[in-house]
Amino acid sequence: MPQGPSSTPEIPETGSVPKHIAIIMDGNGRWAQSRYMPRIAGHKQGVETVRGVIKACMERGVAFLTLFAFSSENWRRPTDEVTSLMQLFLGALEQEIAKLHENGIRFKVIGDISKFDPKIVEFIHLGEQLTANNTRLTFTIAANYGGRWDIMQAMRKMMAQSKDLPLNFEEESLAQYLSMSYAPEPDLFIRTGGEYRVSNFLLWQLAYTELYFTNTLWPDFDEHELELAIQSYQQRERRFGRTSEQLQMLLVR
Ligand code: IPE
Ligand code: IPE
Ligand code: MG
Repeated sequence: MPQGPSSTPEIPETGSVPKHIAIIMDGNGRWAQSRYMPRIAGHKQGVETVRGVIKACMERGVAFLTLFAFSSENWRRPTDEVTSLMQLFLGALEQEIAKLHENGIRFKVIGDISKFDPKIVEFIHLGEQLTANNTRLTFTIAANYGGRWDIMQAMRKMMAQSKDLPLNFEEESLAQYLSMSYAPEPDLFIRTGGEYRVSNFLLWQLAYTELYFTNTLWPDFDEHELELAIQSYQQRERRFGRTSEQLQMLLVR
């Protein structure tokens, strides 16, 4: 039987806690506007939600948490909002890095950070270096990230490193250059804010991820909401192309 290369050969145990949760934190602007507040107030409240979600993930033994904070398309927003978001990002980095480290969290950023203010870049490097050997939870922020950018930069790196690249290279050869090569592919994807799209998030890595959408706006997403998403995940049957009967056979073995 032909067995193509697959980066998802393992079947996680039914009912298990997802090892890797990836979230599109959406709905900050609407949360603020519904309260007659400026959009940035929603983003500020969204940072509070991040704290709660990190804590809840640690308590549940989630190993990887990845949050989409700023997409490669978000530069299209009004300059005021972009500037405020950058200030908020810098402030959060300044305040939180030491706390993340105290809690044994490894901090990572994926995305094209060369476009950010040098101060932000400096804090990112500082945070990544300081927390590099922590093992409790790997917390990744996707900033100026795009799934297409990721695949393109991986391709460029691979081509630059091997001049006589064979044309029939395997998925794994490329995958090692993707910016999240240090993490398993997400088990559970959550999008808050009621939109049903992926908005150029982890395109490659979401191939077999279980998708969960909620109307709850990100600032309102709490531990209970996270629990609902995990419970939904635990009821899914992850087949990775197999039949349900095959899975039953694998489980009884
Ligand atoms: C998500 O919230 C945060 C970012 C994209 C930075 P939004 O700002 O997209 O909130 P809505 O979708 O306008 O409500
Ligand atoms: C996706 O949210 C990006 C982030 C949460 C950082 P958007 O609000 O930018 O997505 P679209 O524009 O509605 O697809
Ligand atoms: Mg949005």
